[in-house]
Amino acid sequence: MQQETIIILDFGAQYSQLIARRVRECSVFCEILPFDTSMAELKAKNPKGIILSGGPASVYTDQAPRIGQEIFHMGVPVLGICYGMHLMTYELGGMVCSGVQREYGKTDVNILDYQDIFKGFETLVNGSLRTWMSHNDLVKQAPSGFTVLAATDHTPFAAMANRELKLYGVQFHPEVVHTQYGKELIANFLTEVCECRRDWTMESFVENAIESIRNQVGDGQVVCGLSGGIDSAVAAVLVHRAVGSQLTCIYVDHGFMRKNESEQVVKTFQDGFKMNLVHVDAVSRFVSKMAGITEPEQKRKLIGSEFIRVFEEEAAKLGDVEYLVQGTLYPDVIESGTSQAAVIKSHHNVGGLPEDMQFQLVEPLRALFKDEVRLLAQELELPAEIVWRQPFPGPGLAIRVIGEVSQERLDILREVDAIYIEEIRTAGLYKEIWQAFAVLTNTRAVGVMGDERTYDYVVALRAVASEDGMTADWARIPYDVLERMSRRIMNEVKGVSRVTYDISSKPPATIEWE
Ligand code: XMP
Repeated sequence: MQQETIIILDFGAQYSQLIARRVRECSVFCEILPFDTSMAELKAKNPKGIILSGGPASVYTDQAPRIGQEIFHMGVPVLGICYGMHLMTYELGGMVCSGVQREYGKTDVNILDYQDIFKGFETLVNGSLRTWMSHNDLVKQAPSGFTVLAATDHTPFAAMANRELKLYGVQFHPEVVHTQYGKELIANFLTEVCECRRDWTMESFVENAIESIRNQVGDGQVVCGLSGGIDSAVAAVLVHRAVGSQLTCIYVDHGFMRKNESEQVVKTFQDGFKMNLVHVDAVSRFVSKMAGITEPEQKRKLIGSEFIRVFEEEAAKLGDVEYLVQGTLYPDVIESGTSQAAVIKSHHNVGGLPEDMQFQLVEPLRALFKDEVRLLAQELELPAEIVWRQPFPGPGLAIRVIGEVSQERLDILREVDAIYIEEIRTAGLYKEIWQAFAVLTNTRAVGVMGDERTYDYVVALRAVASEDGMTADWARIPYDVLERMSRRIMNEVKGVSRVTYDISSKPPATIEWE
């Protein structure tokens, strides 16, 4: 059975990804495409419905993104949100104007028609719906054939429809949480108007993914770099389900992993999933590379290039490999091609490997958002430690040992970090914190132990709350929890004389110290 697809045409909205999230939460698959996608490409997707996103433009300006009329006559239902609604109006001969009385932010909308997109709303709200609006323009006169479904004092068409052509428009944003029952409205559009079955589940995703991996790979040999993180783990397990022993995973242990992490990778994938796993012990190779290196960017670059070298050597040993698995996610797919912000830190990702290798890519997670990958991981029965693992940088502990990295300093940090994370878990804070980790500074401080003077390292504990790692606030860990952490670390780890807690937010600080 063909997978039902909704297409979201993006007009530069901040909220396009949110629309996609809402559609998928309703168990319908969707894709975001640029507004200038050709009609031929659009038709080839055979969509059950099309959603036109909002966007910052005004339909009458010269540079306004337009789409022409044809899309509205395909016989496919269309929902225009904000700018999408203005565009529908403009293209079909209605009138859009600048709102004289600005309605912005929270706005109460009176529902006038309780069919299809507002079906069931009479039991949810008492005539008036709290919505979120964020545009100056509004529809003054709907195109012929449209009726008004909702209005406010200053917005005559807060929602409108042409039921014959299955065209709907809403001035407000049903995808944002500030709109009451926005998800129900989107669900209604999908069910009542697009007649979607709503059967896109992780189980059906797995079935489809396995089939398409098999089609792509045939009887070819496949290699996958495992990092210990969720994306590469899920991608590997999925490919393994599809092609079994044609897949070989390579896990490069660079010596900068946390306590017991390497053992866990071997246990999970080799012993648990019975996958072909090459466990490369490259610890001394990486650690010796770090001798005398103190500058963060130099560290990152050295680790990144050494990693590629080791991976290439190991892959070459496997012989005839044609395919490389990567855990690329949907946000990377959408964002690729947009201009990159200034490089603050050069990231090293196992997923970003290796640029000039002659492999064809297998990217089974290309259509998924991060939390969908977590659902998928659960569906594939990956262990909870991997499913819920906090983000961990490719260069690992090497960028958390400030200054020169040595085996001794890595070992101290590993012990400190393990105690810290154990206490975070015991306090029930692990899931609500975006990232918690310890840093071994290159500062020493004087202490006293028994009657002895000590002169040991200062450790910093860092924990941040964040949505996406782009901005972050330091986590308010209760004092008594901090006290227990500090006491345990100083008592149990030799070489540490002081524990500090980092109270810097991002910006201006970054999450990692290097
Ligand atoms: P910063 O320190 O830039 O970190 O605020 C933002 C997020 O990115 C992670 N990070 C990395 N992840 N390879 C990765 O895969 C890297 O080289 C890398 N450097 C930083 C960091 O842990 C945080 O989640």
